[in-house]
Amino acid sequence: MNLAVFCSGKGTNLQAIINAIRKGEIEARIALVISDRKDAYALRRAKDAGIKAVFVNPKDFSCKRDFEVRLISYLKEERVELVVLAGFMRILSPFFVREYKHRILNIHPSLLPAFKGSRNAVRDALEYGVKITGVTVHFVDEQVDNGPIILQKAVEVSEEDSEESLRERIQQKEHLLYPLAIKLVVEGRIRMEGRRVRIDSLPCSG
Ligand code: GRF
Repeated sequence: MNLAVFCSGKGTNLQAIINAIRKGEIEARIALVISDRKDAYALRRAKDAGIKAVFVNPKDFSCKRDFEVRLISYLKEERVELVVLAGFMRILSPFFVREYKHRILNIHPSLLPAFKGSRNAVRDALEYGVKITGVTVHFVDEQVDNGPIILQKAVEVSEEDSEESLRERIQQKEHLLYPLAIKLVVEGRIRMEGRRVRIDSLPCSG
């Protein structure tokens, strides 16, 4: 299966997916990495891994739809079947989401629906004082952080946690959870019942 990964920043999740594919854990190929930021380190990671990496500048387009039309044309060119959002700091419009219905995944650093839509869900969870937060991988639908949940993993918040230390532990979980969720989707081991996602035989994870 051909994947595209959309990023805006460091790309540590991208790296985890690249590594899982290299190890043969996911039978898929990253056909394309797209960033909306020229300086995203994710672009470097993609190039280092020999993956086609493109910067698409939203400012080059007069409206969001034209930007997304360009994204879709890249995806079609590379015959992409699954779009993986990994720290992509843009909300995709219903136009884009409809084009790839149930074929877009996102990872969010909280236990959704808590801290939905937050640009800094780790800080917000810490400031709110929750004792448990975590990671969610979900399908993308037409509302923000709302689509059917594929996998979640809890992370305990300790009294000593700073935003950095909590983020670090959340990211460690992300790097296990995202490749696993992608594997399940790629292997067709997911069934949808309304917004409930049923998984056929979940393998062990960290
Ligand atoms: C992750 O924490 C993810 O949950 C959020 O954005 C961050 C991306 O990190 N959506 P990275 O670029 O993969 O390192």
